[in-house]
Amino acid sequence: MLRTALLAAAGSPGCRSLVEQTPLTRPVVRRFVAGSTVDDALAVTANLIGSGRAVTLDHLGEDTTDPSMAAATVKAYAELLTLLAEHGLAADAEVSVKLSAVGLRLPDGDRVALDNARRICAAAAAAGTTVTLDMEDHTTTDATLGVLRELRADFPWVGAVLQAYLRRTEQDCRDLAYAGSRVRLCKGAYAEPASVAYQDKSDVDRSYVRCLRVLMDGAGHPMVATHDPRMIAIAAELGKDRPDWEFQMLYGVRDAEQRRLARDHAVRVYLPYGDEWYGYFVRRLAERPANLAFFLRALVTR
Ligand code: FDA
Repeated sequence: MLRTALLAAAGSPGCRSLVEQTPLTRPVVRRFVAGSTVDDALAVTANLIGSGRAVTLDHLGEDTTDPSMAAATVKAYAELLTLLAEHGLAADAEVSVKLSAVGLRLPDGDRVALDNARRICAAAAAAGTTVTLDMEDHTTTDATLGVLRELRADFPWVGAVLQAYLRRTEQDCRDLAYAGSRVRLCKGAYAEPASVAYQDKSDVDRSYVRCLRVLMDGAGHPMVATHDPRMIAIAAELGKDRPDWEFQMLYGVRDAEQRRLARDHAVRVYLPYGDEWYGYFVRRLAERPANLAFFLRALVTR
């Protein structure tokens, strides 16, 4: 119930301006977001790499309705990628891209998003690193996987996210479990109808394990994106005899566990930065009542 209300708030312009204009929100947001600027992002990236973790950087933004904003997002990624290379960070830091931030919802969106994502991939290739396509709500799944197929023809290292809460995902995992394919498996963070997504947490968890088995039995590079201790233990067991896979967690979530896992496994941290933090931040609050309590406590104790 609370999750549904918060996810509705994530898409509401009224709630957005209320939360954004509350001056006390920003310090709390900083728990999950590196900061506003590319320099903030580079500084946190260097720290994370120094602690033995790899990074995937997300320039915050989604649901762009203006071509010039989509172009600005491409420019921001290109600048970031150049700086990652210049600072010697590109071997351990890649980027994650939401196709709706580069034009998927514009007229002729599939083509616009593909062209823009191609530009980001070219910048990543020049920097010597990779790109992973984030997955948004289920209305974008086919388009995102279509863009992935096109991009992989020129950039075979492009990865994608699959969401275990979608009923289709076990089959998508089978389709993508081939050599060279990078799949980030998460549970899923959007409000989805029962017609396309499991609603019970236990059904989502069971789907996650089935998908994990498909990916771990396949020939690709599984990226196990979860903070769930049970899923982490199952992945460690399934992956114990294969080297080519990694854990992934969000910046600001279970930092001590990230460091512990990094002693024996590859661990990558998803690190967002920029000013467009509202949707990302509210999805984090919706995932976990403790995150919401942390936010509310910080508001009243400041
Ligand atoms: P879940 O939220 O079910 O929590 C299970 C258990 O994990 C909890 O009971 C608790 O024990 C532990 N836990 C979780 N959060 C904790 C915390 N803050 N502190 C302590 N313990 C905690 N989604 C999407 O739709 N599209 C995408 O592209 C992505 N991308 C993405 C990348 C990466 C790297 C990650 C880690 C996640 C995403 N997600 C995502 C978000 C994802 O779908 C999901 O919403 C969150 O990861 C939360 O799900 P969990 O698997 O962590 O478990």
